Amino acid sequence: MPRKLVVANWKMHGNLISNHQLMIDYLDRLSALNTVDVVVCVPYPYLAQAQSLLNGSVIAWGAQNLSKDSVGAFTGEVSANMLNDFGATYVIIGHSERATAYCESDENIAAKFMQAKSHGLTPILCVGETLIEREAGVMEMVVAKQIDTIINRYGAEIFSGAVVSYEPIWAIGTGLAATPDQAQSMHEFIRNRIASHNKEAASALKILYGGSVNPQNAVQLFRMQDIDGGLIGKCSLSAQEFEGVCRAAS
Ligand code: PGA
Repeated sequence: MPRKLVVANWKMHGNLISNHQLMIDYLDRLSALNTVDVVVCVPYPYLAQAQSLLNGSVIAWGAQNLSKDSVGAFTGEVSANMLNDFGATYVIIGHSERATAYCESDENIAAKFMQAKSHGLTPILCVGETLIEREAGVMEMVVAKQIDTIINRYGAEIFSGAVVSYEPIWAIGTGLAATPDQAQSMHEFIRNRIASHNKEAASALKILYGGSVNPQNAVQLFRMQDIDGGLIGKCSLSAQEFEGVCRAAS
């Protein structure tokens, strides 16, 4: 059974003092848990703090976004090389909170995915449908388009060693997680979609579930065959809750 991956997404929360405490608490609770891979994705200004506190520990760190360009006159952007400078190894790409609030297109997201891959960062590509799309029964079509944009542009090999996170938008921050069956069915769809182009890339791909995961529902979700871990928002802001989710994955 491959190791599961649990990723904390702190979103725009925290400050130097509270992050310090939360990272120390993570280390206290998770250092002995060596059967699951754990990553924390912090806001950009705290990457240096994550690097100094987590270096050499069992917890890896990453960012929540990156620029689609390598370098240049792009005010306010942060490049893949800059993330490398702070020892980040993961980066969340295309989170729906960015896609909706900052008008990220599938094409931009694809370019960011490529930036991450070509700079040795593991991209965590977020895909998922709105409630209206689910109720209309077009959720697979929506997710297929998000995946296909990347495959059409760069080929399915680019998914080798990458991470996809299925994040139904209606489940994010609502307390209403997808059922294990709903999630499994979409995860299987995603894996098959990539496998139809490249079997090896698909079988090694980690597919996380994100959206109102907590220590209770994580147990059933992580039991499903194609659920390889979780992307955790709200519960990652409490070391105790996050530990519970990590234990469910271990
Ligand atoms: P949530 O967020 O756990 O607070 O629902 C998940 C996410 O946005 O990745």
